[in-house]
Formats: sequence, structure tokens, C-alpha cells
Amino acid sequence: MRCVTVDYVIVGAGVAGLTCALEACKTGSVILLSKSILPAGSTALAQGGIAAAIGSNDVPDLHFLDTVRAGGICDRKAVKVLVQEGIDRIKDIMDYGYPFDKDESGKPLLGREGAHSLSRVVSARGDGSGRALADTLINKINEKSNIFVYEKTSAVNLLVENKMCAGVCAVDFAGNPLIFRSSAVVLAAGGCGQLFSYTTNDINCTGEGYAMAYRAGTSLTGMEFVQFHPTALDCKDNPVFLISEAVRGKGAYLVDQNGQRFMKRYHMWEELAPRDAVARALFAEKQKGNQVFLDVSFLKNTFKEYFPKIYQVCREKGIDVPGEPIPVKPAAHFMMGGIKTDLYGYTGVKGLYACGESAYTGVHGANRLASNSLLEGLVFGYRVGQKIAKETWKPFVKEIDLEQWRNIRLHLPLEKNQHRFFVLKKIKEVMWQEVGLVRTGKGILHAINCLEEIKAALEDDDIVLKNMADIGGIIARSALARRESMGSHFRKDYPSLDMDNNFDYYAERVNNAAY
Ligand code: SIN
Repeated sequence: MRCVTVDYVIVGAGVAGLTCALEACKTGSVILLSKSILPAGSTALAQGGIAAAIGSNDVPDLHFLDTVRAGGICDRKAVKVLVQEGIDRIKDIMDYGYPFDKDESGKPLLGREGAHSLSRVVSARGDGSGRALADTLINKINEKSNIFVYEKTSAVNLLVENKMCAGVCAVDFAGNPLIFRSSAVVLAAGGCGQLFSYTTNDINCTGEGYAMAYRAGTSLTGMEFVQFHPTALDCKDNPVFLISEAVRGKGAYLVDQNGQRFMKRYHMWEELAPRDAVARALFAEKQKGNQVFLDVSFLKNTFKEYFPKIYQVCREKGIDVPGEPIPVKPAAHFMMGGIKTDLYGYTGVKGLYACGESAYTGVHGANRLASNSLLEGLVFGYRVGQKIAKETWKPFVKEIDLEQWRNIRLHLPLEKNQHRFFVLKKIKEVMWQEVGLVRTGKGILHAINCLEEIKAALEDDDIVLKNMADIGGIIARSALARRESMGSHFRKDYPSLDMDNNFDYYAERVNNAAY
């Protein structure tokens, strides 16, 4: 079995992992593990862009207010870091050559998205913002001689003893186990959208970052807060193709099968209401038996220019945009919860850090503001990279029992085996139905029991499905414990906020209504 010693190991090669690697490599060698060929993960699928207060009429305080108003129970210190340092991180990527879209004067063209009080979303190649960001960072990574990327390599477990982390056990594309010993391990492994029947997340977003961290003794926080994007393309693909919120930002509106608009009935900000409100409105319309479409017809000639990828995919699917409305449905999109960390990604386990969607800094609260996720990856990936670059602690030298990893097998790709595909489908369906947009205590309990049964029937080495059943169970238990509705977490049996416990959040909702 191969055992490699390196200064830092980063699990995940999305925006957070790549940014972290670029900082960490300033003082040591970095191994970057990616489950797929680069560009990897959900970063490359992101469309809308990166929110930052760089407009002439904008200030970080306003970005702060919008973020907190959408998320409610946000950690204020984390949000301050995000909105203030975000401006410098945008400058960094521009220096790296990020091909941002420009207005007539050559300045960044700033787009509008839901719950932002003004236009502040930096984009590139229209709706190709995420892919452009991944490409820009990967180009930079390729210039570094001390960053080693292991593609098609999945982290399986952390080497942890007595709350100290000494490295990672992984499996390469041929199924061979690999051990990486390092003074710091960073989990930047993305989210777990693949737990749900419909998701915009990459096929590899199965939540193993959370599962590994949990087994290592860190706490997972806010796991009940799963964000559902209102407008994914209504099709059977996995992942479902995203129809960016930026399309609504340009004025597109939602209609039913009769061409009737309905958002007025649900929120005074209509199509640009916070994501949870729009997603639940679509869910309610669908429950009534209605179909939902995004009408983009008024964008006429500009649609293709602003949204080239959406135009291309819709046309490939036979939807004659912009004339024909786009059928849409909600889909699991982002995990606000995650591995609890401080503002430098420290998890409480010596040598173990987390950033990006894997981490919970509290920056998103109960409901992430649109286009704050790439920003989070840039800001906190950078912070963690800087922090570990100064790490002087060396991993414990005590021999690790490598024997236990010798026979490790990872069943990949997930969907090739019929039995395992069936189990996966069961997990996804129960999560979607009982722990999805609208939850009840009874339904959540049903999901918990079902996931327990699934787990009990899995073979020991079925690590991916076990992780998924475990993380699904944690999301369900967190949802059961929160007997109120807040942000993305909606309980039909507890439809209001618990005002005694959440006075600040309540006050913000009231202010929001008056806004
Ligand atoms: C979108 O383009 O609608 C997604 C952006 C985000 O998730 O913040």
C-alpha cells in the first residue's frame, strides 16, 4: 500500500479547495484530492456568479444586511469577514485573469439576484461564471510545482487518534488504497445534494466530507438547513440543469400552465424573494397539480447573449427559448450546515480544517443569499490556506494501523450496479419526500427508520452508501429537533418561528416585511 508524506492534504478541488491550495503552497507541498477529473464538483456548474460589494453604489454593510436578512441566524462575525474580505478576493481572481463580464465602461457588469437590494453579482461568460472561476484557479494551480493533484481519487477516512488528525486514507481510480500523512488536512469536499431525488449538485456530492469529519469527532451544525433552488430544469437528468436566478434577476417571471403569474400571492418581492420563499411557492403550485414555467420571452435577442449555456441546453432539449417558456422545478442545491469551524476553518480536531460548503461558519444562517457560495469558497478557502501555511504542529508519529485500510474497496461509479442503484434511489426518494421542502415530524421519523434499515442491510465496505445513509440520518434528526420553521427548514406541523428562542431572527423578518 502506498503511503505518501506531504505537508498539507486538501480533500476537494472546487473553489474552496483550489483557493486554499494556492495559499498553503506558499510554505509547503500540497496534495489535492479530487473525486473526478478537473474541473470538479459543483463550482464548475455554478452559473449566476460571485456576490461582492464592488459597485459604485454599494458598500459591504449593505451586503452584510442582505446576507443576514436572508439567513436570519447568521454568525454576524462570519458575515462581516465574508463581505469585507470578499472584495479583496475578487481583486485576486481578476489578477489571475478571471474573464469577468464588463459593462460599456469596462467595469464588471453586476447582475441582480433574489434578496439582494441591488445588483452586485460578478459574472463571467454570461452563465458560465463557475466554470470560468474553476478554469482560472486551475490554471494558477498548474503553475505551481509543489501542488500535486490526484484526480479520480476519493478520500475515505481520516487518520485520527485522540482528537488529532495525521492524514487521510483514500482510494484511487483503480481501487487501490492510498495513505497520505500530513500536518494539516482540509475538508473542502462540497455538499451532499445527491442525497435527494432532484439536485443541481454534481454526481460526486455525496457528503463524505461530513461523514469523515463526524466519525473523527467534529460537530456537524445546522444540518437541517438544506437549500432548494426554485428553478432547475424540469427533466429527469442527474444532476438537473440549473436555470440561474440571474435569469429572474433580468426580469424573467414564473407562470403556470395557463400563463398566469402567481408569485404575488406568496411574497411581496415576487420572483426576487429569498430562495426559500420562491422554492416553496413552486412546491405549493406543483402540489395543486399546476405546472410551472419560467417565461423569458421578453428577453428576445439578448437571452442567448446573457445565458449562452442555458440557451444551448434548452435548445438541445427541444425547448424553443426565448419564445417558449422553460419548465422548472425545485431541486436540492446547497447545504448551509456543515462541519463546525472557527473563522479560520479549525474544526477542534488538531490538524483538521474545513472550508466551503463542507464547513459551517454560520455565514449563511438558515438560508444562503444567492451567489454568496463561490464568495464563501474564495474567502474561507484563502483564510484556511493562510492558516495552515503557518501550521507548525507535526502529526503524531505513533504508528497507525494501516492493515485496516488494506482491503478497503469503494464501489464506484455508484450507479453501475443494479442493487446499489436501487438502494441509492430509495435513499434519495425518502429524503426528497420526507426531508425535502416541506417536512412533518411523522414524515421525518419515517425517513429516519427507513435510513436505519437501509444502513443495516449494507455491506461493511459499502462506504459511499453508508456515508449517505448516515448523513441523511443526521439531516433528518436535525430537522426533527427543530420544532419551528425558519429559512429553508419548513415544518408543516410547526409552521411558525419559535419567537422565544429566536427574537433577533423574528425582528429581522419584521424589518424585512417593512423593507
Ligand atoms: C444561480 O445561478 O441561480 C445559483 C447561484 C447560487 O446558488 O448562489
